Amino acid sequence: MQRRSLLSATAIAACLLGASRPVSADPLAPTGRWTLVATGRAKTPPMGWASWNAFGTDISETRILASAKAMVEDGLAAVGYRYVNVDDGWWLRRRADDGRLQVRTTVFPSAAKRGREGTSLRPFTDTIHGLGLQAGIYSDIGRNACSQAYADGTPNLPEGTQAEREVGLLGHARQDVTLFFSDWNFDYVKVDGCGLSAFAGTQSRVMSGRYRAFAPLVVDTSFNRTNIPATRALYAEVQTALKAVRPAGDYVYSICLWGAANVRSWGGEDVGTMWRTSNDIDPTWGRMLHNYDSVATRDLYAGPGRLNDPDMLEIGNGFFDAQHLTQARAHMSLWAIMAAPLIIGTDLTKVDPTILDVLRAPEVIAVDQDSGGNQGVRAYNDDEREIVVKILADGRRAVALVNRTAMPTAVTLTSEHLKLRADTPIALRDLWARRDLAPLKPGQSFALAPFETRLLSASGSPLLPHGHYLSQEPSRIHVAADGLAALEADPMIHRMIDPYNPGTTSDGNRPIYAGWGAPRADSTPYGETIRLGNVAYRYGLGILANSRLEVTIKNGVHKFSARVGVDDSTRGKTARTVFEVWGDGRRLAASRPTRFGEQSQFLTADITGITVAELVARQLEPDTTGNVVVGRADAQFD
Ligand code: GLA
Repeated sequence: MQRRSLLSATAIAACLLGASRPVSADPLAPTGRWTLVATGRAKTPPMGWASWNAFGTDISETRILASAKAMVEDGLAAVGYRYVNVDDGWWLRRRADDGRLQVRTTVFPSAAKRGREGTSLRPFTDTIHGLGLQAGIYSDIGRNACSQAYADGTPNLPEGTQAEREVGLLGHARQDVTLFFSDWNFDYVKVDGCGLSAFAGTQSRVMSGRYRAFAPLVVDTSFNRTNIPATRALYAEVQTALKAVRPAGDYVYSICLWGAANVRSWGGEDVGTMWRTSNDIDPTWGRMLHNYDSVATRDLYAGPGRLNDPDMLEIGNGFFDAQHLTQARAHMSLWAIMAAPLIIGTDLTKVDPTILDVLRAPEVIAVDQDSGGNQGVRAYNDDEREIVVKILADGRRAVALVNRTAMPTAVTLTSEHLKLRADTPIALRDLWARRDLAPLKPGQSFALAPFETRLLSASGSPLLPHGHYLSQEPSRIHVAADGLAALEADPMIHRMIDPYNPGTTSDGNRPIYAGWGAPRADSTPYGETIRLGNVAYRYGLGILANSRLEVTIKNGVHKFSARVGVDDSTRGKTARTVFEVWGDGRRLAASRPTRFGEQSQFLTADITGITVAELVARQLEPDTTGNVVVGRADAQFD
């Protein structure tokens, strides 16, 4: 993150701790089971409101309760918004004698005079629960929080001695989680990461004696200089505490690491419920698209209870206010098609009724909250337009037609985008207007106004009447091994205005890591069309060799089939790869070893009675020319 200032050479040397992930002896060895463990409770993406985008650290109980009441009175609670999240700014100090966190009672008066406890947010959460809502709180994984690093001079920074101002979780995970979830009865915690990144000994805030030095584990501009295992271990420690305090699993654990530390590959692996994929959103068009882009290629990394998080909504603010309803709807549509958490970030006491209509749009919310938990997959994209398709639990397709530009444009939607047959009718519905449209005509074009995203549903006869393409139900896939030898930032996500330094004195905000080279649906890992043996395939999974995917099998499907081979776009052109299909721990099928330039092979396996399939692509020898890009084209269950 650009606002997180530069580290000195000494500090960087101190944290040259490698970027490898903890791996078992053979990450490709099948386990015979679905190894992901859901964390907390978010069967569908959490919906609610948080204080940060509206108020920064200038929060107060009055302001937050007013927003909570507005959530109920304006009908937002009735359509699913239920979390009321207190972001940075609630704390006063960590008590010296016993480490108990104390609340700033000048802004949270109900927390005052609680006897031995000192202060308590329990009256606050009781009020929130009394409104039929749930309550969220904010902390940091290090000793200090983001406001202490970057919001000097703003209201509500922690006070007291250096030790008393160490309000973060480091060394206090169990104590603070118990306080938040048992004593105070919160339901949701967001855990930020500045304590691991912004308190190097050479920082002026540390050199002045205000804060204790912490050799950074996260260097937010460099995954190579980030200690990924140590960062993951700290976030996992909070999860262990949550499980101990709330064994029923009734909580949401939101990891706020801005896409750093390769969080997308481990965020859902028994650590968090959701994880941020980019630096902070702000109410500008470019920034909103940047944050959307940071999740759009991560379709295989999300599912029910494990969510890519492009950050809180800016609907109602800046370029997404009542004067910009087209943009506000586009923002909402993109978050919905991505199955992103919907956390409102505007002051609900001042919100315009037209903005409320955007936030309450029932058929748009239904797309976000669909129980299938699939993230949308890009069926078409160029620099200006996109078609994104998300399969809903009932088989309908939600489809977003996106104009990224300030000029009018048009998109042609086809049955192929929707994985539906062309020879039977395809019914369309406009989910914003809530009305049925005429059935899709061959070659039908849809006009899009500047900044417009249309959100439709489409139903017809699926190309696979009984089964499904693997790329159509990404939530059924867990990327257990991604085959990535090295992390690379996504070059397709361009430099963006820094939300905290909007001028041009910085070098612009690059994504920290957006998964370049990781497995993708209907695309190679590097964004190319899947092409095996000089034949292009519309549908399939693009992966790297040395990967293993776990797939849960739907009832009633009996056969797996795919064309497998080394993709024409591979960097590694010499090594051979073998493709295997495993079912509940037994090897069901394997290809012959194959390398670049060879024809694809047809691989099929009987999967009757199988609950978890594993798709392994094993590279047989090193390849000095680069990563071996492979594909499972037309991969399907039938
Ligand atoms: C970080 C987070 C934001 C917000 C602020 C609070 O920047 O990414 O979402 O919580 O800290 O200081």
